[in-house]
Amino acid sequence: MTGTTGTALGAPAERREGRQKVTGAARYAAEYALPGRAHAWPVPAAVARGRVTGVDTSAALALPGVLAVLTPGAAAQLAEPEDGMLAVLRGPAVPHRGWCVALAVAETPEAARAAARAVRVTYETQAHDNRPVEGHPDGYVPQEVNGEPGRAEYGDPEGALAAAEARVDVTYRVPPLHNHPMEPHATTAHWDGDRLTVYTSSQGGTAVRSVLAQLFRLPEERITVVAEHVGGGFGAKGTPRPDVVLAALAARHTGRPVTLAYPRRNLPTTVGHRAPTVQRLRLGAHPDGRLTALLHEVTTHTSRVTEFVEHAGAVSRVMYATPNLRSSHRVVPLDVPVASWMRAPGEAPGMYALESAMDELADALGMDPVGLRVRNEPEREPFSGKPFSSRHVVECLREGARRFGWAGRDPRPGLRREGPLRIGTGMAAATYPVQVAPSAASAEARPDGTFVVRVNAADIGTGARTVLAQIAADALGVPLDRVRTEVGHSDLPPAPLAGGSCGTASWGWAVHKACARLAAHPEEGPTVRADTTGEADADSPYARHAFGAHFAEVAVDTVTGEIRVRRLLGVFAAGRILNARTARSQFTGAQIMGMGMALTESSTLDPAFGDFPEADLASYHVPVHADVPDIEADWIDEDDPHLNPMGSKGIGEIGIVGTAAALGNAVHHATGIRFRELPLTPDRIL
Ligand code: MOS
Repeated sequence: MTGTTGTALGAPAERREGRQKVTGAARYAAEYALPGRAHAWPVPAAVARGRVTGVDTSAALALPGVLAVLTPGAAAQLAEPEDGMLAVLRGPAVPHRGWCVALAVAETPEAARAAARAVRVTYETQAHDNRPVEGHPDGYVPQEVNGEPGRAEYGDPEGALAAAEARVDVTYRVPPLHNHPMEPHATTAHWDGDRLTVYTSSQGGTAVRSVLAQLFRLPEERITVVAEHVGGGFGAKGTPRPDVVLAALAARHTGRPVTLAYPRRNLPTTVGHRAPTVQRLRLGAHPDGRLTALLHEVTTHTSRVTEFVEHAGAVSRVMYATPNLRSSHRVVPLDVPVASWMRAPGEAPGMYALESAMDELADALGMDPVGLRVRNEPEREPFSGKPFSSRHVVECLREGARRFGWAGRDPRPGLRREGPLRIGTGMAAATYPVQVAPSAASAEARPDGTFVVRVNAADIGTGARTVLAQIAADALGVPLDRVRTEVGHSDLPPAPLAGGSCGTASWGWAVHKACARLAAHPEEGPTVRADTTGEADADSPYARHAFGAHFAEVAVDTVTGEIRVRRLLGVFAAGRILNARTARSQFTGAQIMGMGMALTESSTLDPAFGDFPEADLASYHVPVHADVPDIEADWIDEDDPHLNPMGSKGIGEIGIVGTAAALGNAVHHATGIRFRELPLTPDRIL
């Protein structure tokens, strides 16, 4: 072996599948054109709540090329899923509008679509409740939200607030949001006797296999899950979604391979959304800026199908020193589509509200907003009392301020004009927890001196193959080009999902372990397998989070109400950065998603029907190239021994955390007006 240990880690290696992707050679789930493959198309429920009383399939079945129409009851033989979202076609109940009530299968996608439209469904409707959560009489404080208490409190927050010399009492609103990955959810399913193969677009194929095994009552060995390339997910593909169940069901029913590529317009009601939040922030402070009370009260909704709570209050347990704290969630169950993970669930809306309120407090105190944050730097994690494994938020703030040119900023709002434009700058901090899960992986030494590492990781566009090869090369002490990575197949060692920003840390830990063992004990080869159970899931005595700081400059057009972002800078502290190129892409991608959250993205919960009118990318506005300025992302090198063998924290989500607050604070600086409801569209600004 050549002695090049350490050279591969951190290098800006190009992503290995890049050429395949840009040349169209990379195959996605819907592109497995198996012989005899048929296509499925869903029929969404037209009522907000009720039950199906009849499905007339005769017109659909009479159309050319139509093979079958699956109706409620088609899945009655399957085991009951743990996740209510997957209980499709089991029975006649309609829990929300858009719920799948039938599935047409035909020779072509066009014929399947025509058949789906020709299906006639009759319903018995029931009263539904899709009222806004604000002022809603129902609602409860969940016992647990994302593994923590739904309500966390210490000291006497109300009393301290009442006694505070400076106070802020503000409410921020974030609408429902949708993930809308570039590649909609899709599965191609194929049965060979009692063996099932699915090609599916998923952030975690290992879980897909175990869920299918449970539902179809099969041993896992008879199920193969392939997710070689995944066109984004942002949480919406974090667990199996209905497409994989429906495709497997349709394939079994027709005896043909079946592809179900979900039409984009069905995604908003089918695969999850970020639940809206109403967040009341009350801050009490000494005149010198030290917080005396922090109250962060979140109201949100959950679908009745599966409880999911957007844990927006959690960030207030992490960020600032305060002797009195309340961080609480109240959740209202509604007849709405299932809410689920969307990039930095909880932290993204939570830091929008907290960091906007901190800006308001800085204003009220006449303090610099960077200085206010530095003043409130905690020694330990406020709620848990644990020491931080590493925390360089102040360094991020200072480095960001330096690079952005924050010094000398005139804090007075509404002063900088360029014709009809008002120019402003703003900042916000960022935080995202370090999460990690046990994984298995193997490393094989080949006779030609090359190595293959195998792990059922999902590359959702992050460059997972590349960074895992870097981790392997580093641990093996060989040049990067001698290592090949195999991911995205359930024959590979089982692994957790690409989610919670924990993919690289979790898979990488197992890869590192297998490779280090192979390097130290080649006689155990040619293949060494490792598993991190017991290590990766061990409780840490440390509070482990990534941190960051955002700085933004905007121009607000007082004639059109349009906001243009001029500059966006993020500086992050996320442990060791394992690939400078793909990391930058993760950070800036999330910052752009934060721009969308701030300025354009919004779904409306229609109270009459309980679904979302914005069902395509013409009405749900994600940022496009013309919206995006030269975004910068950089990082502080962190040496944290309390994480994993690579010393890395997650980087997939922190970039979206706080971005919207920095932009909103910049809009206030530009205009002198606090807009406390996202997105900041022209109709709100004018
Ligand atoms: Mo991310 S929302 O945990 O996939």
